Amino acid sequence: MKGVGFLVALVLWTLASKLASASDPSPLQDFCVAVNDTKDGVFVNGKLCKDPKLAVPEDFFLPGLNIPGNTSNQVGSMVTQANVQQIPGLNTLGISLVRIDYAPYGGLNPPHTHPRATEILVVAQGTLYVGFVTSNPENRLFTKVLYPGDVFVFPVGLIHFQFNIGHTNAVAFAALSSQNPGVITVANAVFGSHPPINPDLLSKAFQLDNNIVKQLQSRFWWDNN
Ligand SMILES: *[C@@H]1O[C@H](CO)[C@@H](O)[C@H](O)[C@H]1NC(C)=O
Ligand SMILES: *[C@@H]1O[C@H](CO)[C@@H](O)[C@H](O)[C@H]1NC(C)=O
Repeated sequence: MKGVGFLVALVLWTLASKLASASDPSPLQDFCVAVNDTKDGVFVNGKLCKDPKLAVPEDFFLPGLNIPGNTSNQVGSMVTQANVQQIPGLNTLGISLVRIDYAPYGGLNPPHTHPRATEILVVAQGTLYVGFVTSNPENRLFTKVLYPGDVFVFPVGLIHFQFNIGHTNAVAFAALSSQNPGVITVANAVFGSHPPINPDLLSKAFQLDNNIVKQLQSRFWWDNN
């Protein structure tokens, strides 16, 4: 009986640890610096890897995250990326970083989701109203007002946002549990797709008049990433 209990516990633990490993797969080597061309490269996890002997410190380095992003745009925010596109040494390591700048009162990182990453954000400057919404059917909204030094987590896949409610510029840094988290900005994807989604379909889905849908589809949807 005791042995059966142990087995059940082991199976449950194994299942739980499988369920919990929702980030990029762990690397099977120290690193796998991404290269663009196939010469001397091997195909691993979406990027080609450089011969480790040829790796240099610069493969793991990116300067410039002290430089504010330009927030003069229709949403009033700018995301500066530090993922595998900018730092090839991040390939297969399952982590990345962003800097986000927000214009004074109203700078918005609009509702979006990262299909491949949980995000942990820390405010460096300013005051942010942040939140995320859980899956159907609850669609529960979690929000918080954050001040410098405050940390908040956006669980993988959930729609989330940050809004500058202070009267100064705001700055946040966030780490993401993927080398390539991906971004789907809800409005851009739904109303700004190429080619456009059938407006009849969207007017039904969003309970909107067809003309309003067509208006929304004719707008320019700024990508702050
Ligand atoms: C790979 O190509 C991308 C896009 O063309 C470029 O931005 C990047 O700097 C290149 N990376 C390397 C390591 O050559
Ligand atoms: C910021 O972007 C705006 C709009 O594109 C542009 O007019 C302005 O020159 C940019 N500012 C800086 C400092 O680059």
